[in-house]
Amino acid sequence: MTVSSARAPANGVDRAADAEPPTFTFWKGRVGLFAILKAAGVGPGDGVLVPGYTCAMVPAAVVHSGASAFYVDIDPATYNCSLETFQQTWARKTKRLAKALVLQHTFGIAADVARIVSWAKSEGIMVIEDCAHAPATKYRDADGQWHTVGDGGDATFFSSQWSKPISTGLGGWVTVNNPSLLDGVKAFHSRECAAPSVLESSLLAAQVVLKELTFRPSLYWALVRPYRWVTRRGLVDGTVSDRELQGEMPCDFAKRMSAFQEWLLKRRLADKRWEAHTRRLRKVYDEELQRAGIPNFCDPDYSDSVLVRYPIRVANKDEVLAEARRRHVEIGEWFNHPIHPRESNSAAFGYHPGNCPEGERAGREVINLPMHRRIDAAQAKRIVNFVAQTAKW
Ligand SMILES: Cc1ncc(COP(=O)(O)O)c(C=O)c1O
Repeated sequence: MTVSSARAPANGVDRAADAEPPTFTFWKGRVGLFAILKAAGVGPGDGVLVPGYTCAMVPAAVVHSGASAFYVDIDPATYNCSLETFQQTWARKTKRLAKALVLQHTFGIAADVARIVSWAKSEGIMVIEDCAHAPATKYRDADGQWHTVGDGGDATFFSSQWSKPISTGLGGWVTVNNPSLLDGVKAFHSRECAAPSVLESSLLAAQVVLKELTFRPSLYWALVRPYRWVTRRGLVDGTVSDRELQGEMPCDFAKRMSAFQEWLLKRRLADKRWEAHTRRLRKVYDEELQRAGIPNFCDPDYSDSVLVRYPIRVANKDEVLAEARRRHVEIGEWFNHPIHPRESNSAAFGYHPGNCPEGERAGREVINLPMHRRIDAAQAKRIVNFVAQTAKW
């Protein structure tokens, strides 16, 4: 089943229904990426250019398709791959093999879509946008026009996992811009994907309700650890299991969204309050960080970023996180490794130490501040005070 309105509207104004690209929903975002790769005919012998600062489930989908992931370093100022870093990896070893690239908009910061898409087209490389962090960010094209990210590539996948601004607990969706991919994604979605079982959907729905009722920022650390413990061991289907972090493809990987997830996704996509909240909170963080003398994040001129988390660099990341846990302050660790989390078997995903020095440095230095709707201005100020007291630069 498709969700016709599952598209972040540009400039807060709904597009005409017939202007929306076809949309397909999946149990998780990574399944959407896999669907696109399959539709593009990516498989053994092919290469896919992947950011060297990402969630392990991105290269996992590439490896599951039979292709190899070739890692592209990031620009330290934007946390995204730039045209130059894509070209470096491509020229160094993958020219003949690279069939597709993954264009990730990390933390909700737009990558330089216009330049990268134009180069990729000229080299016959398919562009798959990773909008897992960026359902509403905009980028500026070569003519100075603003567009919502996800419009520029051949196809795009989104995630609605717990930590994402439009969350259905677990989940993801795909939009297709290149008509040549449409039949392939459609066929994968309808023929190769199973519907989740009643037990799986009910367990997920129960977790969503529980989170809605109990979550407060001060409980972040208390909830994150038990959740990781049960899901990593595969006791409950969660964000990722230990076996997936070892590179194994779960036997029930190919799954569609449940009716519950689709219902929630439609409601959450229609509710634009989160974007306004995020933009307000961004201003509070900017001002408070400046006041505390901490370097704040500056958007590249082609990005109107709607941040999912606010990134800052510190020299003592592990210490700050340990203290945040002790004092019950919600501070995030994304990404703690070029293939996050650092416990993943990066060699199984084709990553070798030294492949992406800037991705590795960001993994050691970047912490992120929460932007979700349970954080108000007063809490944001307290979080910045905490960072000012504990972080070193
Ligand atoms: C940048 C990025 N891409 C893809 C994914 C995978 O999304 P999902 O967990 O829905 O498969 C994540 C997960 O957090 C992510 O951070």
